[in-house]
Amino acid sequence: MKILLVDGTVFGAKTGAILRQVQQYIKEYNSELELEILYFSDLKHQILDGSPLNEDMQMMIEKFENADGYIIATPIYQASIPGVLKNAFDMINPKAMRYKPVSMVANGGTYQHHLVVENQLRPILDYFRCLVTPNYVYTHASHFDANNNITDDEIKDRLRELARVFVQYCKLRQSLPKEPVDNH
Ligand SMILES: Cc1cc2nc3c(=O)[nH]c(=O)nc-3n(C[C@H](O)[C@H](O)[C@H](O)COP(=O)(O)O)c2cc1C
Repeated sequence: MKILLVDGTVFGAKTGAILRQVQQYIKEYNSELELEILYFSDLKHQILDGSPLNEDMQMMIEKFENADGYIIATPIYQASIPGVLKNAFDMINPKAMRYKPVSMVANGGTYQHHLVVENQLRPILDYFRCLVTPNYVYTHASHFDANNNITDDEIKDRLRELARVFVQYCKLRQSLPKEPVDNH
């Protein structure tokens, strides 16, 4: 199974640090999963406005649609997910992520916006009918040192648990028929 780990930040390094930690834990639970990180900061983003899509956006859509599962890592921007991440979801076929496992991690400057994950990101993934794990992890600035390494042991435990459950959801995915019996 191909797992796409999406780093939704376009500026800093903390969201990527969480994602790499999750990547390591997933490998420990299942070394056979094919793990790839997609850094949004590497892409030339283009707003979905009806114009032909550039190569980076086409590549991004292809990676989303070909993956069998996802870890979505997002920074918090203006009490929400970044526009580039919502824009990416807008570009994806509504059936492309159906019944695929997803775990969410997020990082904000403060504690205040941890419910962005529950109230804004999860409903989008529910719309796609993803298998969203019940675990998610929210970090903020004080969980990192000056070099953006995660220093908080409880956060590491929560990320490990998230990886453990995600790997089980990958097994569930394999046992679910790919084609739904309804027409929706
Ligand atoms: C445009 C912008 C808006 C932000 N808005 C919020 C916010 O509303 N709440 C919050 O807790 N942090 C906010 N932050 C702080 C970022 O969430 C935080 O710096 C980011 O998660 C760090 O992750 P990164 O190092 O991966 O970029 C904002 C940062 C930027 C750049």
